[in-house]
Amino acid sequence: MPAGESGTAHPAPKVVPAGRPGRTGLEPALGLTSRPLSPETWPAFARLVKKHNGIFGGCWCISFHLRPGEGKRTAAQYRAMKRARVREGRAHAALVFDGRNAVGWCQFGPTAELPNIRSQKAYEEGLRGFPDWRITCFFIDRERRGEGIANRALQEALREIARLGGGTVEGYPEEVAGRKVSRSFLCSGTLGMFEKEGFEKTRKIAMHRWVVVRRIPPDRTRVGVAPTGATEVGPAMDTSPREVRQNS
Ligand SMILES: CC(C)(COP(=O)(O)OP(=O)(O)OC[C@H]1O[C@@H](n2cnc3c(N)ncnc32)[C@H](O)[C@@H]1OP(=O)(O)O)[C@@H](O)C(=O)NCCC(=O)NCCS
Repeated sequence: MPAGESGTAHPAPKVVPAGRPGRTGLEPALGLTSRPLSPETWPAFARLVKKHNGIFGGCWCISFHLRPGEGKRTAAQYRAMKRARVREGRAHAALVFDGRNAVGWCQFGPTAELPNIRSQKAYEEGLRGFPDWRITCFFIDRERRGEGIANRALQEALREIARLGGGTVEGYPEEVAGRKVSRSFLCSGTLGMFEKEGFEKTRKIAMHRWVVVRRIPPDRTRVGVAPTGATEVGPAMDTSPREVRQNS
């Protein structure tokens, strides 16, 4: 439900030049690092957003934070709201970096921080309880799509959730099998991305949109460790599925 979504032109799929090492889409991008969104990483986040005209003409990745009555603001207001949230620790995302440039993110947060999901009405109709965490939004630099960066961003978000104490995590991805879907509609990720990380489908909330859930155990080696330096992207903790809440 990106602010200003209507009227957004969908970018044409990128044609990846053959022979560009690590950029063929068939192999994982190399040399990437990850850091949480924070006041220190805000400048890199802001550069990526500005490069894409504010995302959907000025959303600044605020939509999923909004409660009724907080929408319909200008891009500058959304930017200020997002920045204040980051300063106050009320906006979470795993940012993926190539060098000093952020090339994508996976937004996550406690349910209270992200009250606004797509298909909210259908979601509430079948609701049995809120999760501890939600994963609501992905965005990847348009020049870097098809390299597996969204998959990496999801892994990093799960790692960060584990560091923050773990718990039940919900995502709201799109089922894309057998149909062509604009990348702009995949801002909450694909079902395949989540299933690869051990999430299980619980119920459908739109024709192609699922609620998926997984329990993430706390990373006891890192709980409470301040997220300071960059971490190499790559498996460092066991993120295999443990207990999955049955909700259907
Ligand atoms: C959707 C998006 C996040 C995917 O990022 P990406 O880095 O290119 O994705 P990856 O290369 O990691 O691929 C992830 C999976 O999505 C699939 N995928 C990506 N684009 C797809 C498309 N248009 N249709 C179907 N599947 C697609 C890939 O095949 C891959 O599946 P697999 O892991 O099972 O092979 C990216 O295109 C994007 O940022 N789109 C814009 C989203 C947006 O507007 N966000 C704003 C927020 S409100």
